Amino acid sequence: MNARTAGLAILGMAAAAGGIGSAVRAQEPTRSVWDGVYTEAQAKRGEAVYRQSCAACHGVALEGIETAGPLTGARFTANWNGVTVGDMLERVRVSMPHDRPGTLSRQQTADVLAYVFSVNRLPAGKIELARQTELLKQIKFEATKPARN
Ligand code: HEC
Repeated sequence: MNARTAGLAILGMAAAAGGIGSAVRAQEPTRSVWDGVYTEAQAKRGEAVYRQSCAACHGVALEGIETAGPLTGARFTANWNGVTVGDMLERVRVSMPHDRPGTLSRQQTADVLAYVFSVNRLPAGKIELARQTELLKQIKFEATKPARN
């Protein structure tokens, strides 16, 4: 078998195993927030944005104050479990800061999410969290670390 026919054989097997569903699954998130999806430097930048634009309402330790809920802890992570990071970015981008929505750039919003992830003890990695929603839709937020086999 040469490389080309080997490739076709693998494609054939994938099609047989996945059927029509495989085309749909290709658009689902391929990574998780447990895979190291932001960098420490980005979280550091995000911390400055957070202090400036979020802390007054959500608290300096992200503990939440009155109606501005906590951005850390079991309730927060359960809230977002299974949602894509793209949807998280959009939610923050269009509605936060609550008193001045839409005033942060995409970059600042991605950075602030990186900071929120770091406080929630999600691992940092080597590549920054992108600012494009489409790319962030490939990353799924998961409240607990998934078991890998
Ligand atoms: C003026 C106060 C205020 C500021 C500033 C503010 N928030 Fe909020 N935030 C709220 C309130 C009130 C809610 C709950 C109502 C709602 O969901 O719209 C909320 C909800 C949220 C939620 C949803 C919480 C959940 O449990 O799902 C997120 C995420 C969030 N804020 C992130 C941020 C970020 C990030 C910033 C800074 C860029 C920020 N907020 C700045 C008041 C604020």
